[in-house]
Amino acid sequence: MTKTRKKYNLPTGYPFLPTLFRSNDFLANPIKFISKSMEKFGGTYTATLGLRKKIILTQDPAFIEHILRGNHRNYHKSPLATERAVEFFGNGLLFSNGDYWLRQRRLVQPAFHREKLQGLYDIVTRSIDEFLRDLPDGEPDIYPLMHQISFSLLIRSLFDIRMEPATMAELGEHFTALQEFLLRDVNRPVQRLLYPFNGMKRDMLRRAKRLKAIIAGLIRERRSDPRSYNDLLDMLLSSRYEDSGEHMTDEQVIDEALILIFAGHETTANALSWMLYLLATHPAINNRLVNELKVSSPADTLRNPFVNAVISESMRLYPPAWMTERVAVEDDRFGDYHFPKGTIIIPFFFGLHRNAAHWPEPARFHPDRFINDPSLARSASFFPFGAGPRMCIGNNFAMAEMCFFLHSFLTNFTIAATPQVPEMRPLITLRPDRIVLKIERISTLH
Ligand code: HEM
Repeated sequence: MTKTRKKYNLPTGYPFLPTLFRSNDFLANPIKFISKSMEKFGGTYTATLGLRKKIILTQDPAFIEHILRGNHRNYHKSPLATERAVEFFGNGLLFSNGDYWLRQRRLVQPAFHREKLQGLYDIVTRSIDEFLRDLPDGEPDIYPLMHQISFSLLIRSLFDIRMEPATMAELGEHFTALQEFLLRDVNRPVQRLLYPFNGMKRDMLRRAKRLKAIIAGLIRERRSDPRSYNDLLDMLLSSRYEDSGEHMTDEQVIDEALILIFAGHETTANALSWMLYLLATHPAINNRLVNELKVSSPADTLRNPFVNAVISESMRLYPPAWMTERVAVEDDRFGDYHFPKGTIIIPFFFGLHRNAAHWPEPARFHPDRFINDPSLARSASFFPFGAGPRMCIGNNFAMAEMCFFLHSFLTNFTIAATPQVPEMRPLITLRPDRIVLKIERISTLH
């Protein structure tokens, strides 16, 4: 153990200079770097940020449970990850903390209960079918396609209206630009020094303002529309706080809508892309899945054990949220460790999901493990949607999107692998560099 200022007992790890010297290795390939360090230090280690700030990285399921569930009140989202995002995307669920977060979470949560989601399923299946109707055969990079479909699914679930294609395209363009900017900002903070000179931040603030203006316009239209809707916007506008009975302000609705899009579309795009890659490279599993899908209605797939096992196993191997972060509000202890307030903790889900101590044959794509032991999907070694009170609010919705997509796609197209092997690009989420698959239509969608 390394002692800091005698009083604390942090896990062994890299002090300041070794952290600095290794920072390029870290930036080049964070998953590889962290995985190697986990092997070296035994599953939990400390790194040093700046001169004094400590970061503890862990793939120990009990430690992760402690942070996300057991003692979650002592942990906030760290400013390191959220500060800049809040500037552009506002103070919605993903980035807020404390009492404000809890009040918002209670307000938004009911919209994502399974029964309430039924109303959205029709929108989701319609959007998927429209998307697939125009999809040509070929050998495309499927990541941009999955990105496109996930984005439009979320926009349509939020605003079930005939949105002008130009407005949809503009929303997509601003979102992509802002997310790319945030990625660079988090990964290469030194670039911030250039913002006053290169106008980049100004341009991004302009884009964020435009995004908010578009959503404000959609809210105004909705308020003057006498028809009833079953979309997420309707839910955000109609829900009332338990304590005051009041509605959210328009600004709050805009923040929450932006956060749902931000948190929901890239994660789903990653999950679908890796899943199709795994299926294309494991034809026997793919064939078994297609046979299950052929005899199921889209709604049946939600309860189909094999469909769910395929999705879970894909997210075990390629968790879209490959890690998360928290900061300790007060000093805390876990086992022998004792660390000061301000310590940042990184639960490394990717490492845990591929750890042989918890997952036999961890590198094997083996959906049956979730069938043989259904409790695995809820086990403390599996965190695709996080855990505790801040667990993904959209998890049921995301599972439904993926089930419906698999159903429509694999009953209308065949997929096959190509010689291209994708690489992981672990940025904020676990993206592939590209995934080239051969896709061929087998039936005509009406
Ligand atoms: C496969 C798809 C998805 C994955 C893997 C995923 C994963 C996650 C994870 C791991 C967290 C917890 C992060 C943490 O503890 O720091 C989270 C939070 C969140 N997710 Fe998802 N997510 C997905 C889809 C969605 C969708 C479709 C939506 C919305 C429609 C959504 C909305 C959110 C929100 C708002 C939060 C923040 C919740 C809070 O802090 O209270 N996610 N997600």
